[in-house]
Amino acid sequence: MRIAVIGTGYVGLVTGACLAARGHRVTCVDQQQEIVRQIQAAQAPIFEPGLEEILREVTARGRLSATTNLKEAVLGAELSLVAVGTPLRDGEIDLSQVREAVAAIGRALKETNRHHTVCIKSTVVPTTTDTLVKQLLTEASGRQPGEFGLAMNPEFLREGRAVEDFLKPDRIVIGADDDFSFAAVQRLYEGRFDAPLLRVSLRTAEMIKYAANSLLANLISYSNEVASICEATGGVDVREVLDAVTRDKRFHAGSETGGAGPEITKYLEAGCGFGGSCFPKDVQALAAYSRKRGYQPRLLQATLAVNREQPLRLVARLAEELGGLAGRRVAVLGLAFKPGTDDVRGSPSIAMIRRLLEKGAEVRGADPRAAGNMNDVIPAVPGRVRYFREYAAALDGADAVILATSWPEYLEIPPDEFRRRLKRPLVVDGRRALNREGLEGAGCRYLGVGLKEKEKGPQA
Ligand SMILES: NC(=O)c1ccc[n+]([C@@H]2O[C@H](COP(=O)([O-])OP(=O)(O)OC[C@H]3O[C@@H](n4cnc5c(N)ncnc54)[C@H](O)[C@@H]3O)[C@@H](O)[C@H]2O)c1
Repeated sequence: MRIAVIGTGYVGLVTGACLAARGHRVTCVDQQQEIVRQIQAAQAPIFEPGLEEILREVTARGRLSATTNLKEAVLGAELSLVAVGTPLRDGEIDLSQVREAVAAIGRALKETNRHHTVCIKSTVVPTTTDTLVKQLLTEASGRQPGEFGLAMNPEFLREGRAVEDFLKPDRIVIGADDDFSFAAVQRLYEGRFDAPLLRVSLRTAEMIKYAANSLLANLISYSNEVASICEATGGVDVREVLDAVTRDKRFHAGSETGGAGPEITKYLEAGCGFGGSCFPKDVQALAAYSRKRGYQPRLLQATLAVNREQPLRLVARLAEELGGLAGRRVAVLGLAFKPGTDDVRGSPSIAMIRRLLEKGAEVRGADPRAAGNMNDVIPAVPGRVRYFREYAAALDGADAVILATSWPEYLEIPPDEFRRRLKRPLVVDGRRALNREGLEGAGCRYLGVGLKEKEKGPQA
């Protein structure tokens, strides 16, 4: 099938490259010249494991090309996948990129009689596709609904494992209100991907994506709320609590062992909160959408409130431990919102670094991939904040370190190296991923999310 992918960020590029690897002919369209230039040279403009290898292969085979010319790409394709950004603006979804891309597709379709299907892959709030997108396409193309196909195919990939997730999806959701549109998207996947294909309506497909992300975000905030109650109690380790909770066999359907547990239990871990380009924005967008529709989404609002506070709680604990932060040097290990990506959008490190700076601390951030991107968000200022690729440069001479992202190389730092490099060996484990016993054995003071010593004396 000949496909145009409009918007080649994390989702669009991974989608385009993987569909090309599965035998389709893909034209990637982006309005950023530099992104297009890099894709043409078979270089990935973003870091995503395995992506560049696939890009090299599909480009060499002539299955994938890139252009800034949307019209040409659409006219040469049977199906357009829209994967542009849907950021938040003033707490609500900003659909301007979708509007612009869809209108441009419509204008291109005006110049041909060939049938074409437009499929929205961006995350959009329910009713966007069957109202706004349909109307824009109708107006710009001069065609009536039904004279073009319209579908919604949400994407569930996770950054850092995007290629693997795309190639081995758990389910493929195709929203379509007519058989022709469904069949067009079905042809993208059927026989090429081993996953159940779920046919639903356009607005159900939109809702599925938000419901999935909100559930996962909810689990994280739930875990963090339990952690805060553990801290307020003293003598209770949230890790032990949640480990026991998730051994309930209902979390282990199909698993005999009841051991480490399936992936879902990864969302039942306390940490410094969720980040990334999806969870924070999608939960906010769904909450705002829901309020507009007259329903107060109390659980979603609470999920967001807990998440906003979580990274700041860590900084507050550090301040308490150090007797204030003014003049202290704090190393922040990990700037990306999770390991395996260079993406800092919504990263809890941003909130932590801002708060540390507000309180007068000097920050030394480290990340193997995301130092440059963090510098774009909070620029380095001599004597105030600096970023490094190497963790050692951040740790050397610091008063404390916060582990913010559990990159594997950080988990392998020998405990005595923390002791040697830090001026004051205070380790705040924002991910509960470090070796507590080892660190304490090496003479470090260890503070972990959801873990606090029992206070002496009677407790209420
Ligand atoms: N990043 C994720 O992990 C993820 C996962 C699932 C779903 N999503 C959703 O997918 C969508 C895309 O997310 P992303 O992270 O890939 O965004 P992104 O910001 O990384 O990429 C969007 C790209 O679209 C391009 N673009 C915008 N308007 C355009 C236009 N009119 N013509 C051509 N190109 C245009 C931009 O230049 C940019 O390169 C969002 O709705 C997001 O919520 C993201």
